Amino acid sequence: MNELPQSVNAEKAHSALGGATNPKDLSVQKVTVEYIDRCTPAVLVEMVPAPGVGAFSRYSPQAAARQHAALITVAGLAYGRVLVAHQGRQLVAYLTFHPPEGECRWASLPCGRILELGGIEVARGYRGIGLARRLMDLAFAPPDFDDIIVYAQALTWCWDLEGTGMSVADYRQMMLRLFGSYGFKSYATDEPNIRYDQSSFLLARMGPKTPPSLIEAFRALLLGQEKE
Ligand SMILES: CC(C)(COP(=O)(O)OP(=O)(O)OC[C@H]1O[C@@H](n2cnc3c(N)ncnc32)[C@H](O)[C@@H]1OP(=O)(O)O)[C@@H](O)C(=O)NCCC(=O)NCCS
Repeated sequence: MNELPQSVNAEKAHSALGGATNPKDLSVQKVTVEYIDRCTPAVLVEMVPAPGVGAFSRYSPQAAARQHAALITVAGLAYGRVLVAHQGRQLVAYLTFHPPEGECRWASLPCGRILELGGIEVARGYRGIGLARRLMDLAFAPPDFDDIIVYAQALTWCWDLEGTGMSVADYRQMMLRLFGSYGFKSYATDEPNIRYDQSSFLLARMGPKTPPSLIEAFRALLLGQEKE
């Protein structure tokens, strides 16, 4: 459990709740965030996304509902893993892992040997206080990913440039630094989603015990897969 610094909390929680709660109430309230790893669909169903949780840089109630449904689906998948930060029933951040989707090139690698870090998001009002790092710490502490590959598609259209006020270049640097500190490196690829915007990029992490043959097979898929 991570107890947030009180002075930051009142303001942050207020904006996360879209101003619906009286900040005076929050300033006297002790705000704590709890974490759950391997969240089950049944636990997720009981949660309500905080208003500042979105989907693909959209922040409407509909987007939050779509994202909530997606989390429940991922939690129920074989090899799916969902970590959340929550305050009571309110879901304030999540991190997900799942197998590559059917039609994508990485899906040809052996099942369970490569997983996509599919999403990491912290509700707008809770950012910059270490929740993303805490979720990543929890995800990468156990040996689950030691002998497999984890990749992430850092796609600019998923970035909350408006909410953070950051430039694409600065956001990119933030992603590289955050993921880099968990062993992810950037790989050149002609995968169409990534190639669509030159600022998007592919990140991948080889575990310390990932077999060289698997790494070789992954590298072989990076380029030259698209039929012109
Ligand atoms: C990216 C995101 C998950 C970071 O969450 P967060 O809880 O604010 O991150 P943390 O507080 O744990 O900080 C992680 C790192 O990012 C940096 N960071 C976070 N917000 C920042 C900002 N606005 N400006 C500069 N750096 C920032 C922190 O300094 C920290 O780096 P450091 O540990 O090297 O100092 C959050 O901004 C978010 O949800 N964005 C929208 C969804 C998204 O873009 N997901 C990624 C898709 S690829």
